Amino acid sequence: MKSADIRESFLSFFESKGAKRLPSSSLVPDDPSLLLTSAGMVQFKPVFLGARDIGVTRATTCQKCARTTDIDIIGTTGRHHSFFEMLGNFSFGDYFKSEACAWAYEYSTDVLGMDPDRLWFSIYEDDDEAEAVWRDEVGVPQDRIVRMGAKDNFWSAGPTGPCGPCSELYYDQGPEVGCGLDTCAPGCDCDRFVEYWNLVFMQYDRQDDGTLEPLPKKNIDTGMGLERVAAIMQGVHTNFETDDLRVLVAVGEGLSGVSLGAAEKTDVSLRILADHARAVAFLIADGVLPSNEGRGYVLRRLLRRAIRHGRLLGVDDAFMVQLIDTVIGRWGTPYPELVDNAELIRGIVASEEERFSATLRQGLAFLTEAMERAHVGGETVLDGTEAFTLHDTYGFPYELTSEIAAESGLEVDHEAFEAAMEAQRERGRAAVKDESWSFGSAFDEMARTAGATEFLGYGADEAESTVVGIVVGGTSVERIEAGQEGEVVLAATPFYAEQGGQVGDTGVLSADDTRFAVSDTRFAVPGLVAHVGILEAGGISVGDTVHAAIDVMRRERIRRNHTATHILHWALRRILGDHVRQSGSLVAPERLRFDFTHFEAISAEQLHRIEEMANHKIMENHQVLNYETSLATAREMGVTALFGEKYGEIVRVLEVGNFSKELCGGTHVAWSSEIGLLKIVSEGSVGANLRRIEAVTSFDALAYTDRVEAELGEAASVLKVGRFDVAERAGALVKRVKDLENAAQRAKSHLSGFDPASLAEGALDAGYPVVIAQVPDITAAEMRGVWDVVRTRLGDSAAAVIASKDPESGAPLLLAAGTPGAVEAGFDAGSLIKAIAPRIKGGGGGRREMAQAGGKDASGIEAALSEARSALGVG
Ligand code: ALA
Repeated sequence: MKSADIRESFLSFFESKGAKRLPSSSLVPDDPSLLLTSAGMVQFKPVFLGARDIGVTRATTCQKCARTTDIDIIGTTGRHHSFFEMLGNFSFGDYFKSEACAWAYEYSTDVLGMDPDRLWFSIYEDDDEAEAVWRDEVGVPQDRIVRMGAKDNFWSAGPTGPCGPCSELYYDQGPEVGCGLDTCAPGCDCDRFVEYWNLVFMQYDRQDDGTLEPLPKKNIDTGMGLERVAAIMQGVHTNFETDDLRVLVAVGEGLSGVSLGAAEKTDVSLRILADHARAVAFLIADGVLPSNEGRGYVLRRLLRRAIRHGRLLGVDDAFMVQLIDTVIGRWGTPYPELVDNAELIRGIVASEEERFSATLRQGLAFLTEAMERAHVGGETVLDGTEAFTLHDTYGFPYELTSEIAAESGLEVDHEAFEAAMEAQRERGRAAVKDESWSFGSAFDEMARTAGATEFLGYGADEAESTVVGIVVGGTSVERIEAGQEGEVVLAATPFYAEQGGQVGDTGVLSADDTRFAVSDTRFAVPGLVAHVGILEAGGISVGDTVHAAIDVMRRERIRRNHTATHILHWALRRILGDHVRQSGSLVAPERLRFDFTHFEAISAEQLHRIEEMANHKIMENHQVLNYETSLATAREMGVTALFGEKYGEIVRVLEVGNFSKELCGGTHVAWSSEIGLLKIVSEGSVGANLRRIEAVTSFDALAYTDRVEAELGEAASVLKVGRFDVAERAGALVKRVKDLENAAQRAKSHLSGFDPASLAEGALDAGYPVVIAQVPDITAAEMRGVWDVVRTRLGDSAAAVIASKDPESGAPLLLAAGTPGAVEAGFDAGSLIKAIAPRIKGGGGGRREMAQAGGKDASGIEAALSEARSALGVG
């Protein structure tokens, strides 16, 4: 049986037992306290607790699961995975142990055709009831039933919450497989007895203090590992040799030229490549992006571990995308989110791989330095904390570090390394402990008794409704009095609770003299809307009828911004490509913020085209439609599901014209032209592969352009030009400032140590003081500046003949200048310059007071100055 056939046969088997087939939920659980979806029951946790009713009492799923607890052993065994598929059947207060056991047996032996002689059954140590069911009802021989302790046969999803004793089914692969020890039995660590199905008799809710409270009803939660069953059915001893995974392993073989089975060490790497590549693709498809914390860190760790093992296999070039493509090809049919997000997954993986290759190089440099330090200190041991840093920061496996260290005669202090690792694990455990489930709040009780709040806000801005609950200071109360802050829950409301980026509504709940000012609206627990605010006058009791009215003008602005984000999303994909996915948004009255995946900077030209395209669509006045349909129909229509978002069976679709179709529960305008105008006010990077655009629409766009225009007007008046000449004028000014700055800079560097005033000290006497000298390289204009300084030092009657070289061209320059007093005494700058300029192969001239010349031969400067000395009779 192929994996796909097993998947299908399981789901239809339980459908025949009255179960509803439900889709897998996302790998990112709804519950913020859980890192990843680790079992089929995660999406049903509130159902088991009695906090939510999903309208069925029997369900069956094939759930995408991710577990991080086993990451370190993945690859070293043939059975552990970071990502796997769990087939499950569930009873919510319906059938219990008898049916769960009987059907598991029936499916295993009748549908899968497993040989009953190979099956073993474990039960919780004191669960006599389960033993009786297996033996007396199902007909299993007594010696095939083994009792185990809480570690193996009492199951819970977390430190608190639903849990119960469980019973596991094992398949005996035969004595030729596994350890061969006499003691080998179900539960042995070796491969002989494959534990393939866990039946949990969910009947307790573990409290914070550890006590077990019975759940309202007894439930069944089972989990069968698809990969393990596929291995049994296909007669192979590891999951990696089953149909789909084997293909993925083969890609690794092709890349490295190493075959599975060649050596234990390379087998580990090949398995890691296959396992991790699959997890990486599925995680990204469910909205996880690489980062340094939480789920993003798990993703990054898996990616890096796979890349490292690729290097260990001798694959030096980027290779991950090839594996990813195979994952999309093999699993894309049952999991279309892989296909929908294919370009994004490839892009993220390629960019992470490139980044990490650089990190690997840096890690090597770090290690080299650490080894040198050890050598210099005469050590033979490399500090274990260095190995930990390499592991933690640079992603170097301990083995790699110790291998490289050994080549240079160093042994790594393994104990110190382990101690550092343990300290980190401890930190991890402490973090998990803090994340337990919080059920049992005042709102849970309300949700249980009153059910979900009906939302009227797609069509109405105000409505009459009954108060079903009031919470003040976290406690459920019957009445709220004037002056108190609290949260009011209504049976139905036009108020939109913050969701999908759209902020909660504000407004008023009123009745006669009563007035409750709503400052925010939120989902207190899934489905239950709480109006947050303060009672300004009167009093409200549970059971009262109030008039609920939202702030309409504010909601108008929110609507415009929300529809605008859809149009912007469309324009971004048109201009930048299909890898663009919304990864977050904020839709507030005064602005919108849109985060999306993209791998490089956006040019000003692209940004302009995005804004322009969006505005065209706005002004073309397209109709905006907002309606409900089934998720399946929406998929067929090609509606874009939001990246990383989770949906129920009935979804709302938002269509703008015929160009944008997205799943969205928000509130929107009826026609696109209501948005008026969209202006992008900023764009930038907010993390690896993530960018953010902020924009304003309608009145805020007008206010924004008004402000821009006012600033421009002011700039124009400062520059004394028309508004459309500002850029040119400002450009010219900037250039001028640059030139001046350059000149000043040059003057500073060339003249360093040169003080023009000091020239005066060397003045000669021609009947009046005259300075004849060569100065450091300066421009002709700067030479005039030097003369200005000299003349102030020498008085009314003075002259100078100064030579220099242009700092840029090196061409010789001459300047002669005299005060009116010197000219009266006979000094003639013009004729002097004319006379001496030929020495520098140049020409020039001027007035009697001031003359300059430029030439071609700097070697003639000394001769020119000497001739000037003669001419003035001071030589
Ligand atoms: N929730 C049970 C498990 O994960 C079935 O093993």
